[in-house]
Amino acid sequence: MERLQKVLAEAGIASRRKCEEIITSGRVQVNGEVVTTLGVKVNASEDEIKVDGRTVGQQKKIYVILNKPKGVITSATDPEGRKVVTDFLPGIRERVYPVGRLDYDTEGLLLLTNDGEFAHLLTHPKHHVPRTYQATVKGVPHGTLLEKLRIGVQLDDGMTSPAEVEYADVNPTKNESIIEITIYEGRNRQVRRMFESIAFPVIKLKRIKFGPIFLTGLPRAKYRHLTPKEVEELREAALQTHNVQKGQ
Ligand code: URA
Repeated sequence: MERLQKVLAEAGIASRRKCEEIITSGRVQVNGEVVTTLGVKVNASEDEIKVDGRTVGQQKKIYVILNKPKGVITSATDPEGRKVVTDFLPGIRERVYPVGRLDYDTEGLLLLTNDGEFAHLLTHPKHHVPRTYQATVKGVPHGTLLEKLRIGVQLDDGMTSPAEVEYADVNPTKNESIIEITIYEGRNRQVRRMFESIAFPVIKLKRIKFGPIFLTGLPRAKYRHLTPKEVEELREAALQTHNVQKGQ
C-alpha cells in the first residue's frame, strides 16, 4: 500500500506536491469514493483510481530534452492559448511536464517527463543539481564583479550560493560578453537577477547544461528522448548533491 499522492505522481499525473492539491481539491476518486484527505493509502494494482473521472493507468515513463526557443511558456498548457513547450513535442502522446522552468525569454535545455518522482527529485531545493547558462550582457563586466557573483550576491529572496562564473567570449565589435555561469539553485529568474545586481542586465540567456546533461547537438525547437543511462546519471546527480548544504 502506498500513499495516494505518491501513486498519482508515479503515474505521471503531476509532481507529488501538485498531486496533493489535486486530491484536496476533490478531483480524485478511489473505488468510486471522492478522497480529499492526504493520509489515504492505496494499492496501485488493485484499487481503481480516477482523476477528473479518468482512470489512472500505469503509464510508460518517458524523459525528453527539448531545446526551448525563446518566446515560449514553460508550461504544459496555457489558458490564453500562447505557445507552450509541449507544442514542440510532436509524436509524444504521454502527458509530460517540465522539470523546473525557464523564463519566457530564456532558451535552451529543458527536461520534460511524466515521471513526477523524477521531476521532484531534480528540482527539490535540497538537491543542488548544477545548471549552466550562457548569459549575454552588454559591455564587459570587470573581473571583480564576476568574483562577487562567484561568492554570492544579495537578492531580495536572500544570498545566492557560490557559483562558477567564467568569460566564454567577448565581442568588442558588438560590445557584448558571453559569460558562463553555473548555479546550484533554481530560484525564479535567478541568473537575470544576479546580473542585475552587478548592473549588467542579461540581454540573452541560454541554458546549456543540467546536471550531467549537455544541450550540445540538439537544434533549436527540437527534442530527443534521454537514454536510460542519461536518466540514471541525472538521478545520481540529484542524490549525490543531497547533503550539500546551501552556501558550502
Ligand atoms: N535564471 C533566469 O534568470 N532565467 C531562467 O530562465 C533560468 C535561470
